[in-house]
Amino acid sequence: MHQDEIAALRQKHYNATVIYQRLPNPDLMILRVRPDFPVPPHKPGQYGTLGLGQWEPRAPDCQPEPPTSGEETKLIRRAYSLSCSILDDGGKLLDLTGVDWLEFYIVLVRHSEQGPPALTPRLFMLQEGSRLFLGEKLTGHYTLDPVKPGDTVVFLATGTGEAPHNYMVWELLRRGHQGKILSACCVRYRRDLGYLAVHEALMRRHANYRYVSLTTREAENRGHKVYLQDLVTSGRLEEHLGARLDPATTHVYLCGNPNMIGLPITDKATGAKVFPQPPGLVEILTKRGFQLDQHALKLKGNIHVEEYW
Ligand SMILES: Cc1cc2nc3c(=O)[nH]c(=O)nc-3n(C[C@H](O)[C@H](O)[C@H](O)COP(=O)(O)OP(=O)(O)OC[C@H]3O[C@@H](n4cnc5c(N)ncnc54)[C@H](O)[C@@H]3O)c2cc1C
Ligand SMILES: NC(=O)c1ccc[n+]([C@@H]2O[C@H](COP(=O)([O-])OP(=O)(O)OC[C@H]3O[C@@H](n4cnc5c(N)ncnc54)[C@H](OP(=O)(O)O)[C@@H]3O)[C@@H](O)[C@H]2O)c1
Repeated sequence: MHQDEIAALRQKHYNATVIYQRLPNPDLMILRVRPDFPVPPHKPGQYGTLGLGQWEPRAPDCQPEPPTSGEETKLIRRAYSLSCSILDDGGKLLDLTGVDWLEFYIVLVRHSEQGPPALTPRLFMLQEGSRLFLGEKLTGHYTLDPVKPGDTVVFLATGTGEAPHNYMVWELLRRGHQGKILSACCVRYRRDLGYLAVHEALMRRHANYRYVSLTTREAENRGHKVYLQDLVTSGRLEEHLGARLDPATTHVYLCGNPNMIGLPITDKATGAKVFPQPPGLVEILTKRGFQLDQHALKLKGNIHVEEYW
């Protein structure tokens, strides 16, 4: 495509600018984006939409796309949870009053069984100053609305599923939440813990905050892989929490890999709802007296989920 044509498409579709970028590793990015419009009202835990044109270049060493015809001018959009670095450079809780940007935490998907990943190979070509599309609506039901001041709040994530939890942790600490807060994240390698230093600093400052990280592909994990499900079933999560996982006073938030979450699926033969196997956390927690929050059915519960695919 001709450079003039690309410039015109960018001018037409893009409405935001990258103002900050940090790569904890080459495949993981923390991005701050300033919209041309005022930051839309939102709650911690919600998500927005980022987009780039099909015409944009892709990062090297990603699954190649077949040559497209008629798609070159298309805008590719995906949902991204709002994230938060929680602390400022001086180690104080971030003051987000009046800020004109939003933070995102994104992993580069280099390859997918479902076909070449469209957006992340392009997002990883962005630099500070680059332009992109940001949806004007921030939305979602994965929020702290049901949490009461003394409740225990447990956040369990795989990979970048930690993003909304970071923003919710910031909100709880800002409010002076009295109950215990535990955030756990399971990643392949230690280098995939993009906010680890922040969580360590938070634990030193807030007696009611605990961060637990699990890796699954480091050398020490050979023959000893612990998933978040194992953390709960073994009782280790409660040891970290220093309390029982009591459904009467606890909200659990699950975000990221759908297999970790394990929402019930409809059995084709019987039409009944059955849990996928091996069990995900929804089944494990349900058996311990927790109840899935199902917004669409207006069923309130204390297990809240956000699936990333
Ligand atoms: C509500 C919502 C919020 C989301 N928030 C985030 C976020 O904050 N950060 C983020 O990195 N992604 C997030 N995602 C996923 C995101 O929308 C894209 O799917 C992802 O960035 C990959 O885009 P793609 O076009 O490159 O590949 P796609 O074609 O969209 O995805 C290809 C495959 O990549 C895998 N995949 C997708 N997302 C992830 C992921 N985050 N971690 C591991 N594997 C993944 C899945 O196997 C998927 O089938 C969110 C998704 C939803 C529905
Ligand atoms: N992380 C990297 O170093 C890396 C590097 C290059 C590219 N990528 C790309 O990034 C994408 C996402 O990678 P990601 O590591 O962020 O996300 P991910 O594949 O969802 O893995 C995140 C964590 O979830 C664990 N997990 C997988 N299945 C689970 C289940 N059923 N129950 C509970 N936990 C489970 C993983 O363990 P397992 O180890 O068992 O999978 C891993 O520890 C991939 O598509 C890949 O192409 C990642």
